[in-house]
Amino acid sequence: METTLAIVKPDGVSRGLVGEVLKRIENAGLKIAALKMIQMTTAQAQGFYAVHRERPFFESLTQFMTSGPVVVMMLKGDGAIAQWRDMMGATNYKEAAEGTIRREYATDIEKNVVHGSDAPETAAFELGYFFNAFEIMAE
Ligand code: RTP
Ligand code: MG
Repeated sequence: METTLAIVKPDGVSRGLVGEVLKRIENAGLKIAALKMIQMTTAQAQGFYAVHRERPFFESLTQFMTSGPVVVMMLKGDGAIAQWRDMMGATNYKEAAEGTIRREYATDIEKNVVHGSDAPETAAFELGYFFNAFEIMAE
């Protein structure tokens, strides 16, 4: 069983897309093992995106991610990391496959509605960043 971190980003929450994203996750057979709504501080967002700190979009990205509440989730399933990335679609919604969340709902390369961990190592870091043991359901 694999676990991954999913986020409904501030654009997704403010546009009322939480239900749509959750419906897709449940319909796809992924288990939601943890879920909460938070608003990140600047320091939290900078730590979360530390791998991108040298990128030109870092400042804008951390501002966007702190601009409103987000829904963070632990998803669980066989191949959950790749499965959730496939459901999200490419970072740039213009290149995202038909039927993916970003293709259907993103409005911008940054405001792309959802996040997903990209590897087991990043999933472990990202899940530990938001959830403690008491917040994670065993089954
Ligand atoms: P994510 O981490 O959010 O799941 O997205 P990703 O792996 O598809 O993309 P990544 O390269 O990790 O970039 C993280 C987020 O930064 C914003 N971004 N903006 N302005 C730009 O060129 C640019 N490139 C990336 C997006 O919000 C992207 O999801
Ligand atoms: Mg990424």
